[in-house]
Amino acid sequence: MTNSPSATTGNNTEPRLLDVSTETIELAASAIQGGGLVAFPTETVYGLGADATNDTAVAKIFEAKSRPTFNPLIVHVKDSGQAALLVEFTPAAQKLAQKFWPGPLTMVLKRSVSSPLSMLVSAGLDTVAVRVPNHPIAQALLEKSNVPLAAPSANKSGTVSSTAGMHVASQFRNGVEIIIDGGLCTVGIESTIIDLSGTEPVILRPGVITLEEIEIEIGPVAYATDGEIKAPGMMKSHYAPSIPLRINVTPNERTKGEAYLTFGPDAPRRAALNLSKAGDLREAAANLFTMIRALDQPGIRGIAVMPIPNTGLGHAINDRLMRAAAPRSDDTSGFSCSGSFETKMQNFVKPEGNN
Ligand code: TXA
Ligand code: MG
Repeated sequence: MTNSPSATTGNNTEPRLLDVSTETIELAASAIQGGGLVAFPTETVYGLGADATNDTAVAKIFEAKSRPTFNPLIVHVKDSGQAALLVEFTPAAQKLAQKFWPGPLTMVLKRSVSSPLSMLVSAGLDTVAVRVPNHPIAQALLEKSNVPLAAPSANKSGTVSSTAGMHVASQFRNGVEIIIDGGLCTVGIESTIIDLSGTEPVILRPGVITLEEIEIEIGPVAYATDGEIKAPGMMKSHYAPSIPLRINVTPNERTKGEAYLTFGPDAPRRAALNLSKAGDLREAAANLFTMIRALDQPGIRGIAVMPIPNTGLGHAINDRLMRAAAPRSDDTSGFSCSGSFETKMQNFVKPEGNN
């Protein structure tokens, strides 16, 4: 890393993509304390972090992401003790924290009266989404900066979440001071979000921690119905790649020029990519955004995704795919089939046994 260490670089300089080290964590922590943005890995996806108690810093997140300001952010904390200083920790929240934190579960709880959090974090709502990430780099950054970190997924609004440091670097040219490169995220899709602020618990966004696992701890839980969009990340046409994406496409239904994203051992061999040759939904979740990104190339007409079983984690995968396939409001992604398509596709036909 040739950049000279400075934690207060301006907003218009390119982000520095740094490998993790004690020095990187120190630099990143002082960038956070100085009101800057730092992208960091979590076990789910990369987060774009800022001091959640600093309005100006939080505003920079919305600016960098080009995110509609009504969309509230997740606040990352070290542990449930820190969470309890920010939100009203209910008995159900205690139980879930005990079982699933640190880990890919976000809880929406009432903001406590004395909460030092910026109002912008929750976009004016009287609830806040909190989570304790289970990733050593995220934990080290929380520890060193000693503030709660507001961090949405580190991608431009409405695009696929980032699961590698390079994904972040390719999207943010300025406005972000440091990107801590921690390799690929192991879970690969965003946390399960459960709203515990109402009379009954409601899953706002499915994730690797399933409704069934949560019910074992706290009893009956419902899925949010499509009519009530409480988590704006539940909007249709979220996670959209720049080329069209079709779901539940069987091998016979593929059309020429589409890249075929498959699942399982029975998938056609000459598909573009296979989410999990072993048919393992956890592996498929971890690969989902990375592979959609890999196929989202000029010269590829569209992505056709093979049916994914809708059981367990398949529910979360299909949820993201449905959103990626939804019609876009700004649908300008008309097909442009270039001659280089076949060549491009060759690059995605991986050697046997390699995923
Ligand atoms: O795995 C994850 O959750 C990642 C990593 C970085 O932690 N973060 C993430 O953040 O996915 P983001 O901002 O892309 O998604 C946060 C979701 C949004 O759909 C937002 O609407 C919802 O959480 N949310 C945040 N605060 C909320 C609140 N008070 N009530 C309801 N939904 C809320
Ligand atoms: Mg997101």
